[in-house]
Amino acid sequence: MGRLLKILGIALGSIIALALIVVGTVYLLGTRRIAKTHDAPTEPELALPTDTASLARGAELGGSLGCRTCHAPDLGGSVEDAGPFALFAAPNLTSGRGGRGGRGATFAAADWERAIRHGVKKDGRSLVIMPSEVYGHLTNEDLAALVAYLKQVPPVDREIPPFEVRIVGRLLVGSGQAPLLVAETAPKDPHKVSVPRDSSVERGRYVASIYGCGLCHNPSFSGGKADGGPPDGLPASNITPEGIGKWSEADFLRALREGKRPDGSQINEQMPWQAFGKMGDDDLHALWLFLKTLPPKPYGQR
Ligand code: HEC
Ligand code: HEC
Repeated sequence: MGRLLKILGIALGSIIALALIVVGTVYLLGTRRIAKTHDAPTEPELALPTDTASLARGAELGGSLGCRTCHAPDLGGSVEDAGPFALFAAPNLTSGRGGRGGRGATFAAADWERAIRHGVKKDGRSLVIMPSEVYGHLTNEDLAALVAYLKQVPPVDREIPPFEVRIVGRLLVGSGQAPLLVAETAPKDPHKVSVPRDSSVERGRYVASIYGCGLCHNPSFSGGKADGGPPDGLPASNITPEGIGKWSEADFLRALREGKRPDGSQINEQMPWQAFGKMGDDDLHALWLFLKTLPPKPYGQR
């Protein structure tokens, strides 16, 4: 009996020791991945526009791309304690005290570009959570308009602590369970050349890319559980003609502006219609034209 207990004790001890080694290794892997630096080639000179039309375009993007969802409605940054997962901290983007914009020359156009397009911080480490996977598709023209606009939003004084990835977050990164490090998913070869703002399918394809429709609705837009979406997220709807083919353009506009389907039912807010609904009529129209050209696919088929 005593011997059996001893053997059991040794077995249990070994299992615990092994588990600790595995967890420790995954934790260290996560920590190393977080500390890793990434290349982020920036434009030699991203010329920031000063004309009213470009600043208006920047304001449109600053509202519709969802920056305000994470960085607070006034862009002054927000903090949320997500327990053992992370201290979620989206920095103050304004020129107020504690703001990125307030550092003037020390947070230059290239630093904005590195963050938005490549998901990389000034020190070369990856940003966490921010969707550069999508923003990386912005053309130089749109990116410059956005940055020019951000540099002149009203200053907000708010000190935001650095983002902290805590133990559960590090384990998720180390085991590759969550695509938290955005520099790893940002497009390697961003499309930088301007896309004319007209009512063409090409324009619609571009609009879909910068709002990431294909990230949640899947690359074929047929919906289902997204590879790139939040792990506990709702499955997205089929937005190929198989799904919304019977909708009119007015139905589509209402869905994106008011979050209502043709039958009056509410679209869940995991579909970021509140932000997307702020895009201009012309871009919504081009997006609609593009979606209509998609091959119809049954729900969830890639
Ligand atoms: C899903 C949430 C989310 C959205 C949406 C988002 N951000 Fe961020 N952003 C973050 C977080 C979190 C950080 C800090 C991450 C870190 O420090 O690792 C950050 C950091 C930044 C930084 C700072 C980079 C640095 O080096 O300090 C800039 C600039 C930035 N975001 C701009 C934007 C802009 C512009 C938009 C909209 C086009 C945007 N963000 C949308 C979450 C978000
Ligand atoms: C962050 C993830 C996400 C992104 C990005 C996203 N969607 Fe969605 N979308 C969803 C989810 C989830 C639903 C289902 C909501 C529900 O079940 O109420 C949805 C539903 C919809 C619907 C309602 C269709 C129906 O019959 O239920 C439309 C239309 C739609 N999305 C269009 C778009 C377009 C166009 C884009 C790009 C501009 C886009 N979505 C980007 C997640 C997303």
